[in-house]
Amino acid sequence: MYFPAYRMRRLRQNSQMRQLVHETDLLPSRLIYPLFVTHGKDVRAPVGSMPGCYQLSINNLVREAKEVRELGIPGILLFGIPAEKDEAGTSAYDGEGIVQMAVAALKDEVPDLLVITDVCLCEYTSHGHCGIVQDGDVDNDLTLEMLAKMALSHAEAGADIIAPSDMMDGRVAAIRSALDNEGFTNTPIMSYAAKYASSFYGPFREAADSTPEFGDRRSYQMDARNSDEAVRECLLDIDEGADIIMVKPALPYLDIICRVKQETKFPLAAYNVSGEFSMIKAAAEKGWLDERGAVLEALTAIRRAGADIIITYHAKEVAGWLAG
Ligand code: PBG
Repeated sequence: MYFPAYRMRRLRQNSQMRQLVHETDLLPSRLIYPLFVTHGKDVRAPVGSMPGCYQLSINNLVREAKEVRELGIPGILLFGIPAEKDEAGTSAYDGEGIVQMAVAALKDEVPDLLVITDVCLCEYTSHGHCGIVQDGDVDNDLTLEMLAKMALSHAEAGADIIAPSDMMDGRVAAIRSALDNEGFTNTPIMSYAAKYASSFYGPFREAADSTPEFGDRRSYQMDARNSDEAVRECLLDIDEGADIIMVKPALPYLDIICRVKQETKFPLAAYNVSGEFSMIKAAAEKGWLDERGAVLEALTAIRRAGADIIITYHAKEVAGWLAG
């Protein structure tokens, strides 16, 4: 049936009508807020390229976490900035390391907030790569041992979900067996399964102090030209025991989110990364974009593409807007 029998504008004529037929929800319960924890006391160091984001000491992190919980956001994704870095990233699996101490404090003071920990060596290695470097390249299998130790130390500290972001082959299986061997059979793994080598991570590397000293991450992160490969990455991680898979970045990769969801039917997270955040912030600061409208539209698009969970630096503001 065509015009005039059908008029698409009938169901758009007022907000109640539009509300009745809308297809995609954006709720605070779908959001995860990333946070950066650092040593010291009363530290709240602004990240220049990410307005509103800070490196926080544990006492301020706990305060922030309480606010996040009160806004109805179910969880945070935690990144650590260690006091010292070395070739092998040993502070990553130190039982008294920054993330391990932060997790313990969070689970003590905000027990019903899910604490998801990023597992990757790049913040802890002196060269800034995501694994152990041998002869100028990241050695996959040596790195797996470190990642498994790191994941286990997070679980022992009380982490609710372990999120490996390193892109080494076989890391989900290595982490799953390390967790299971120590009795953490109920700790889920959210794997950064389809993580692309992206220019949109720039601001994060300032926040987490994790820029590689030489080369780039193209020998382990994915090539932006590929889509079938993203499906393979996700299926492999699922085979190895991933409970939640992730596509990252989000906005330039909505096609990947859509495809991975359709082909796997697995719980899917999308990471609305630092560069995506900073672009909107910068344009809004210049008065070139309406921030609230642009953010809500961008996150709704990520949900519409098929993401169940959105990891985003906009989470607190969005939850506030949705409540108000
Ligand atoms: C660590 C890691 C990165 C991000 C999350 N975990 C950076 C990278 O791979 O260089 C990026 C997050 C963001 O840009 O918001 N491997």
